[in-house]
Amino acid sequence: MVVIRHAARFGSPPSLSNLTHDDRIESSVSGASPTVVVVGAINVDLVVVAPRLPGPGETVVGGGLQTYGGGKGANAAVAAARAGATVHLIGAVGGDDTGIAALAELRAAGVDVSDVAVLAGESTGVALIVVDGRGENQIAVGAGANAAVPVDHIRQCLRSLLPTAGCVLVSTEIPAAAVAVAVEEAFTARVRCILNPAPVLPVVVELLARGPILTPNGSELSDLAMLVGDAIGSATADAQRIAAMTHHPVVVTQGGDGVLVVTADGVVQLVPAPPVEVRDTTGAGDTFNGVLAARLAMGDDLATAVPVAVVAASLSVTEVGARGGMPTAAQIDAAMS
Ligand code: RIB
Repeated sequence: MVVIRHAARFGSPPSLSNLTHDDRIESSVSGASPTVVVVGAINVDLVVVAPRLPGPGETVVGGGLQTYGGGKGANAAVAAARAGATVHLIGAVGGDDTGIAALAELRAAGVDVSDVAVLAGESTGVALIVVDGRGENQIAVGAGANAAVPVDHIRQCLRSLLPTAGCVLVSTEIPAAAVAVAVEEAFTARVRCILNPAPVLPVVVELLARGPILTPNGSELSDLAMLVGDAIGSATADAQRIAAMTHHPVVVTQGGDGVLVVTADGVVQLVPAPPVEVRDTTGAGDTFNGVLAARLAMGDDLATAVPVAVVAASLSVTEVGARGGMPTAAQIDAAMS
């Protein structure tokens, strides 16, 4: 564990040169290591299950408070570890009891947290979540330490971990400069990079030329399409336009409708999701991304990895809490067969 006191705030994002996609990234990942490096946020989730989600200014009364581990980075790290990968998480928690507990929970889940910075004077990230009777959610995040994760720390950790990594997974609940350095380092090291643009930050557009595999949901895809020009309106057309810019597949998660995969040359495939009883959709995208990263790191190609990740994400929504229903490798295998 790295302990950083009086941690410096971010400077400007590193400037991005005009490098374009390098096919050597693809060739270098064959025979990949089953090690996933996740760069992203770590939260504690405070969850209330209520009959419906509140509107603006409205109070809705639900059941008792439930507390779970959360954060898109930490959730995906747990999903990848349960799927059988060796997982290193890079991020930050505060120097508070919540941060210590979050790290203990991640360790118990098999995630290596020795590269998580503990920032004295910062509070650990918190997400306030309401889940309705259909399993849909509403989330407000207090970023806390996630907003202060030092860029130099991320760079140093990645330089030490990337030589043995099979896949890097980056999500965007951390500052733009942190996202940029993670994608840049993966590109330089020629390690396959999944970029989950949740939420969509303008820096994602700057990083398209670095060839990440993007994994937006439907609304994130529209936001991204808007940032690169006018949204065309159809998910397929938007994904094709963005895949033509990354020269890599765009994988659009569509909840119960499954996943849309658009390859770099515009070929479209829909991978359906199995029907399940939905209790809580929180963390379904994180499960998808974590398992996708794990399977790619283990050597699967995308066509093999995506259906596995879809099944894992479907299983994840059957329990309350972002990590509650995340399956183990054995549970995924059982569901696949
Ligand atoms: O994707 C779900 C996650 O988003 C929650 O765990 C919450 O912490 C927010 O980061």
